[in-house]
Amino acid sequence: MPAAPLMSTYGKLPISFARGEGCWLYDTNGNRYFDAISGIAVCGLGHSHPAVTEAISKQAAQLTHCSNLFQIPNQETLGELLCDVSGMDNVFFCNSGAEANEAAIKLARLFGKKKGIENPAIVVMENSFHGRTLATLSASGNRKVQAGFEPLVRGFVRTPFNDIKTLDHIAESNSNVVAVLIEPVQGEGGVIPADPDYIKSVEKLCRDHGWLLMLDEVQTGNGRTGSYFAYQEYGITPDVVTTAKGLGNGFPIGACLARGEASEVFHPGSHGSTFGGNPLACAAGIAVIQTIQKQNLSARARELGDRLLSHFESQLGGTDCIKEIRGKGLMIGIEMKESCPELVPLANSQGLLINVTQDKVIRLLPPLIMSDADADHLANTLCTLIKLYAGDDRKSPR
Ligand SMILES: Cc1ncc(COP(=O)(O)O)c(C=O)c1O
Repeated sequence: MPAAPLMSTYGKLPISFARGEGCWLYDTNGNRYFDAISGIAVCGLGHSHPAVTEAISKQAAQLTHCSNLFQIPNQETLGELLCDVSGMDNVFFCNSGAEANEAAIKLARLFGKKKGIENPAIVVMENSFHGRTLATLSASGNRKVQAGFEPLVRGFVRTPFNDIKTLDHIAESNSNVVAVLIEPVQGEGGVIPADPDYIKSVEKLCRDHGWLLMLDEVQTGNGRTGSYFAYQEYGITPDVVTTAKGLGNGFPIGACLARGEASEVFHPGSHGSTFGGNPLACAAGIAVIQTIQKQNLSARARELGDRLLSHFESQLGGTDCIKEIRGKGLMIGIEMKESCPELVPLANSQGLLINVTQDKVIRLLPPLIMSDADADHLANTLCTLIKLYAGDDRKSPR
């Protein structure tokens, strides 16, 4: 068969899915797979969730698109829902996580310019990931996503994650800084949560220096880590929050939320998007937020995360091949001592979809709608697989 005329941007696995239902995906040969990655933190409500399907179908039959030249009631409703769950003041809608971060970056620059800072700089973290557009890959702390795309966008100052001393030093020495952009849990970076004391200190530095605290909640948001947004568990108040992935449960939508002074930076002409916040995308977002709230899925994600972590700790703790097991809600990383990308096809052959990031970290992002039995199935299948893979089900002496 000739190769499909697709640009070679992904290393694709040889599986093609025909349909999905809840936590399960079914391939074109009729095999079923437990989806422990939810399309990379997207389908938090599982596949083909009836509320989302109904909202999209109804809206598609009425009006899919009309442009931001006009009033869009669904956009207003979704904006209100997002502000209610986050405590933010207003929202800009776009179509992806990278676009949400682009909006945040532009907002921070304009905020700086208004304060008279000619060359505004944004502090970003080592090991971070913010997207694949030129500005967001420049903000990302990952050489692999930058290599070949130089010259990078200027105006980012990098600092190690979870290290307040270096950030203190930047505050003393760089008067161009206008904002800090940070993931509360580094996802692509290997599921690394921010230390609670660190993130509180970052917030204090932002307040003391008049910087915007900008949280990239593209992966962590929409209930996944145990509250609607992860910052709510840390007890901090950001100025800007970005989200995407889980907001549409598979329908593309992103949002940049702002509060206080940050919410007054953009004016007509500052920023825009043809598709951003169209009636169809917003219908999906409304159904997602209402379902998360109605079913209290954020609290459920915390409960399920604790259940999975205790399974992994009891079944894998002390196993030779494991370096660390960590996570927040339903964002879980099992770090192996050695490189383990072969685990992905091995898991697929056992009917389980997992992801390996940073070469050694098994990343789990399962749906928030799992039952206890689903979580136990996932944990037992994966633990058996890891032990089989490592050829080591002996416990090392503690
Ligand atoms: C924290 C974070 N920010 C931004 C992005 C980029 O989102 P998108 O792929 O929707 O552009 C991702 C995607 O993985 C992400 O995890």
